[in-house]
Formats: sequence, structure tokens, C-alpha cells
Amino acid sequence: MEDKNLIVGIETSDDAAVYKINDEMAAIQTLDFFTPVVDDPYTFGQIAAANSISDVYAMGGKPTVALNIVCFPNCLSIDVLGEILRGGADKVIEAGAVVIGGHTVEDDEPKYGLSVMGIVHPNKILKNFGSKVGEDVIITKPLGTGIINTSIKGGMASKKAYDEAVKVMATLNKYASEIIANYNISACTDITGFGLMGHGYEMAEASGVTFKLYKDKIPYIKEAKEYAEIGLVPAGAYNNRKHIEGKFEFRDTPEWMKDILFDPQTSGGLLVTCSKEESSKIIEELSKLELPSSIIGEVVTKQEEGYIIVE
Ligand code: CO
Ligand code: CO
Repeated sequence: MEDKNLIVGIETSDDAAVYKINDEMAAIQTLDFFTPVVDDPYTFGQIAAANSISDVYAMGGKPTVALNIVCFPNCLSIDVLGEILRGGADKVIEAGAVVIGGHTVEDDEPKYGLSVMGIVHPNKILKNFGSKVGEDVIITKPLGTGIINTSIKGGMASKKAYDEAVKVMATLNKYASEIIANYNISACTDITGFGLMGHGYEMAEASGVTFKLYKDKIPYIKEAKEYAEIGLVPAGAYNNRKHIEGKFEFRDTPEWMKDILFDPQTSGGLLVTCSKEESSKIIEELSKLELPSSIIGEVVTKQEEGYIIVE
């Protein structure tokens, strides 16, 4: 669909729709919901909300209003739903937004998420393309939550791996987004279901460049390596790989690292490109946050080998 005020639509597979209200303000609209990734209902609520709100940050916006989306079986105690909603509400409050009701339907399997509206100045929208040759590539959270979630479901994850994954998934991209807002970011997205490779591919392809990634610089949850090596890799990782087959190249990259690079992330970090002058300043500020950020590569002219080269 087209509309003169629709600044970001569906064409570029961006994180959210952006609709211009006037010259000073545009509305960002997004929604996301999914089945529980952890057993604890409060924690699940926090993760689902952090994930839903993330697309607003990925567009450079501030979340304002959220509505709950709930599917819930009548065989479960209503207290469980109360805890999910409390976890979600706490994250919305932390984001500086308000949650005002929502909609619930009965379903065999619980599902939860939010529809979120955010606001942004029309000149400050961060799109998922625009990366320029010579820039650095930054990510703001470690990878591996899909692998850890698979290990949790299989009863194989250690307490430490569980805690780390929960921290990564429940952390709002707010703090990283507030830092990068002070710099000239050429492109931004959040890393979710398509993994670093999928979202990185989208950004590089739409920008007409290649991302050269340094495999030794990519942050990941430590246990993800061990679990990937014994095959605790979600099916989504293989689908992500198949989806962009022939459009990337690995040089001396071990299998477990490939799994981590294709691992679908729940509530992953921001993927950002910016000039080399600014990237070190950004990293210096990001390093004060709780989760590891890193310059993971650089933007080079489009290479014959593909849109992403990992070496
Ligand atoms: Co997104
Ligand atoms: Co989304």
C-alpha cells in the first residue's frame, strides 16, 4: 500500500512502519508475539515485551503506547497470565511507555507480545539500509540465545547459561539506542529471527555493499559454543542459512561459529553501521552498559563472493 505520509513501508523489510504525522513527528508502529521461551511466566513477559519494543528502538524512536496481545489456555491458572502481564508491564514502564489493556483469545498454547507505537523525528529515522564503504559494523548484544533456548527446552542448559541468556533477552535496546542517537548512524536494525547473517545480509544487500566480519570479534554467550558443538541448534538456524545460500562466504570459520552466526535471536541487539571516526567513541560509551558490544567488521565494496564475508 502507498500513502504520501508512509515514510517506511513493507518494501525494505524494515523493523516497523513509520507514518509521518507532521514535519516534526512520525509514528512508528510494530507488533510481535510468540510462545514462551522460558518456563517462568514473569521472565517470559519481560522477554516478550523487550522483544516487541525493540523494533521501535531499531527505527531510532521512543516507545510511547503499548497494547497486550495474549493467547491463553483456560486450563492454566489465571495467576500465570497475571505474571506474564506483570513482566511485560515492568518492561514497558522501564521503556518509559504505557501499556493500556489489549486483547486476549483462548488458545491451546500461551502466546504473548505487544503492539507498540513509538515516535521519532522524521529526519532521525534509522533505516535498515544506507551503510557506506569504509564504515564499521557494530553489534550491541552477544549472540547465541536461540541455541541456549534450544538447550533449555532440552533440559541441557546450565544455570549460568540460562541466566546469561535471560539477561540478554530481557535487556531493552533502549540503552544502546540512547547512545547511538548522539552519532551519525548510517543504518540500524535489531537482530532477531534471521540471526546476524540474515539481518546483516538484508542490510548489506539493500545498501549495495559487502560486510566483512571478523569471526574473532563477534560476541556470543560462552556456553553457546559448547551446545552448538553437540548439535543443540534450532531448526531456524538451518533455515536462515538456506535462505541466503550463495550470498555469503566463510573463510576458516568453524561449524559452531557458523551456527552462532545463523542462530535466530530472541530480543537480540542492535546492528549498526557508522564511520570509523565515530565507532570507537560509540563503543567506549556502549562498553559502560552491562552487555558486551563490539565492532565486528567493516563495510567494503560489494564483493563477488557475496554480501557477507566472515574471516
Ligand atoms: Co526488527
Ligand atoms: Co519484529
